[in-house]
Amino acid sequence: MEQIKTETLLSDAAGISCAVAIWQAGGLVAFPTETVYGLGADATNGTAVARIYEAKGRPAFNPLIIHVADIATAKQFAEFDTLAENLALAFWPGPLSLVLPLKTNSGLSPLVTAGLSTLAVRIPQNPLAQRLLSAFGGAIAAPSANPSGKISATSASHVLASLSGRIDAVMDGGTCNVGLESTIVAPGTSGAALLRPGGLPAEAIEAMLGLKLTRQDDPDQPTSPGQLASHYAPSAQIALNVTAPDNTMIWLGFGPDCTGAALNLSQAGDLREAAANLFAVLHEMDRLAQEKNLNVIAIAPVPNTGLGVAINDRLKRAAAPR
Ligand code: TXA
Ligand code: MG
Repeated sequence: MEQIKTETLLSDAAGISCAVAIWQAGGLVAFPTETVYGLGADATNGTAVARIYEAKGRPAFNPLIIHVADIATAKQFAEFDTLAENLALAFWPGPLSLVLPLKTNSGLSPLVTAGLSTLAVRIPQNPLAQRLLSAFGGAIAAPSANPSGKISATSASHVLASLSGRIDAVMDGGTCNVGLESTIVAPGTSGAALLRPGGLPAEAIEAMLGLKLTRQDDPDQPTSPGQLASHYAPSAQIALNVTAPDNTMIWLGFGPDCTGAALNLSQAGDLREAAANLFAVLHEMDRLAQEKNLNVIAIAPVPNTGLGVAINDRLKRAAAPR
């Protein structure tokens, strides 16, 4: 990955406008929340979201949490039923993320939810995060601001130690006072599931709801995000690394040498562009395969470096027998 200069922004009005301008231009700004620093990008910009995965070196497209300033903005992107609304009113702003049905036509990049039909949302409490999100106005996708597999960052210097040269800027807002990632809860029709313990104690949520949260390890309950992500697969069969498809196949290209491909993940062979296109293109290929009565989607080789590792991981899961 090419190195870029990482600016440190101060938490004043000039710093905030600079962060917002970088987000609007599709850049990456790490910012403090009360839990940990987040690595933020405009959640509606697929290429910007692809850059998050690239900067973190994530080997797979785990879905991301969107961060918004207020409940009205959250409702532009996710559906709230009464239970969700009650949780939001009780605990937002604060260290709670809610997994809710994604609104149709939310405008979010499918890379944010890794192609799922649910969306994780939170309103952080940190005053600087609040000011940044209000100034931006929309949804910022932000995983923890650390390289994949490394511990989360709770200060700007932690962020710089591991991500300097890979992100446009970090806003220095001192130390995170919770220091632990948000608690993730998925409200359901009968109760709510705890998907990740975190900064908001489960007991506080249970006391408010007057019921026990179901836990991940409960066999009757859904499922880790990783497993959820594998539910998304096209209905056609997938064949990988195909350079010469036969006429029973519909071909998805990558790069300039795929003449005859129905669609191309990136004509220029750009992995960022391919990642940003991935989920929308897979949906469209599935639709085209049905329309043309072909039951195999053949996919051209995608180099297994940088973002290509996560793209290939997703393609392998889509190709797995089911
Ligand atoms: O405190 C936090 O939550 C921090 C700050 C920056 O907000 N963010 C954070 O993000 O910890 P990250 O990417 O490190 O963890 C997000 C978690 C992942 O475990 C992911 O699988 C889960 O949220 N997640 C996101 N969307 C989901 C969905 N639709 N369904 C289930 N889990 C989801
Ligand atoms: Mg993390």
